[in-house]
Amino acid sequence: MVSRVIPVDTFDLVIFGGTGDLARRKILPGLYVRFLAGQIPEGARIVGAARSEFDDDGYRSFVSESIAEFVAKSKQDKTAISEFLKCIHYVPIDALGKGGWPDLAKLMRLDTIRAFYLSVGPRLFGPLAERLHAHGIANDKSRIVVEKPFGRDLKSACALNAVLAESFEEHQIYRIDHYLGKETVQNLMAVRFGNILFEPLWNSQYVDHIQITVAETVGVGGRGGYYDKSGAMRDMVQNHMMQLLCLIAMEPPSTFEPDAVRDEKLKVIRALDPVESHEIVRGQYLEGENGASYQIEAENPDSHAESFIALRTHISNWRWNGTPIYLRTGKRLRARVSEIAVVFKDPPHSIFGPQEGRRGNVLVIRLQPDEGMNLRVTIKEPGPGGMRLIEVPLDMSFAEALGNDGDDIPDAYERLIMDVIRGNQTLFMRGDEVEAAWAWTDPIIAAWEDRHDKPKPYDPGSSGPEDSLMLLHRDGRRWREIR
Ligand code: NDP
Ligand code: BG6
Repeated sequence: MVSRVIPVDTFDLVIFGGTGDLARRKILPGLYVRFLAGQIPEGARIVGAARSEFDDDGYRSFVSESIAEFVAKSKQDKTAISEFLKCIHYVPIDALGKGGWPDLAKLMRLDTIRAFYLSVGPRLFGPLAERLHAHGIANDKSRIVVEKPFGRDLKSACALNAVLAESFEEHQIYRIDHYLGKETVQNLMAVRFGNILFEPLWNSQYVDHIQITVAETVGVGGRGGYYDKSGAMRDMVQNHMMQLLCLIAMEPPSTFEPDAVRDEKLKVIRALDPVESHEIVRGQYLEGENGASYQIEAENPDSHAESFIALRTHISNWRWNGTPIYLRTGKRLRARVSEIAVVFKDPPHSIFGPQEGRRGNVLVIRLQPDEGMNLRVTIKEPGPGGMRLIEVPLDMSFAEALGNDGDDIPDAYERLIMDVIRGNQTLFMRGDEVEAAWAWTDPIIAAWEDRHDKPKPYDPGSSGPEDSLMLLHRDGRRWREIR
């Protein structure tokens, strides 16, 4: 199936940090793929900005290399690439200096959408926002995109919000959480609110519990410096997993307008119970057969940062009272899998008598790999010999169902950047949401710090520390396998 592409209005997009890793791996390749899809209008300008000295041609070579490395070969079209490169410009700028700003101002066109992507560390957000205004480059129609991490606690997030608010209105600020740009995450809303089938069952009367797993096989690699100060709680739970939790648990918004959706997400975060220490397991991978060890990779032999978290939480509202929600994420686990499993209760009475080992209905929304949905239902085992029940999956791989290969599912960044140009904030975090998420996270981290908590070791390639299995066993439940 060929997806429908709605072109956006022409724009000037400046990528501060245009020479960085994120720009190279995600932003620039994503923009090229949108160009190839016909979504980027002729005349759009994409301007890289950083301290490195490049001229336009030098930066075009940089962009061309990033496309060669990070875009699927099937999408590398020579003519399209050379047309796309005509949109590319570069201005050397130090975010903390004075040079380059007049050149950037000259490149910006009047009456054109202006977006500024701050793909730089958060310490540069304030200086960049301030200089964009001082040089008359940003106006009240401009949009500013900011990357994670948005603070490392409530206090620093409030400070960042305050700095941005000095130069931009909330409706101009796009705080990225790339999980919200994932196709299946958006599908979660389509499934919940576009079908009558699920919503009546979507509450504690019918849902036994919810499991959200984001398991990675990669370790911290070259990002140890950042990760070691962050750990899985700040890196994954406070943002990506919290967003998934919000979308699965929120009330139906009255419209699909940005604030209607974000108001509902905010209510979920504010209704989350504090997590007690017995409801959380921290882990750190430690030298398995392949020798991978977190402390060696992070180059910190004394590190107590967690590369794994499993926790139980609960939403105190009418819909979810009594339904635990289990979150689990970690690096160097057995398989790369991100999924949300909604585990339904058993029917109130079995007319077929006791059925050994039978499990109830489970709806699994797979974010990656192999995006899709799977609903486990009970049927009769075929053949004579009485009524024996078995579970079979109603399985839908989006790639198969929609007749495309995985390459046709747009990367999260492609979708999100186009939303910025369209001026649609639905899939971006509002300032109060981020603050509420930190307000929930802070006491959990503070409790570890107070008691000098050490993460439990786990083998690379495993499912995490044993204690994380116990978290569910104690409740008479079990995690889905990571595979
Ligand atoms: P890098 O360190 O690779 O790149 C940083 C960029 O900032 C470079 O382009 C650098 O260019 C530029 N820069 C640094 N100092 C200045 C300055 N004073 N003035 C102007 N430009 C400056 O970082 P990443 O690309 O990895 O990350 C960028 C942001 O995105 C960070 O906030 C990160 O947390 C976030 N992020 C990154 C992800 C990733 O996968 N990489 C994933 C999610 C979020 P130069 O040295 O030429 O000035
Ligand atoms: C990033 C985290 O935000 O998300 C990384 O900083 C993590 O540590 C990554 O690996 C996971 O993203 P994805 O899209 O690969 O699941």
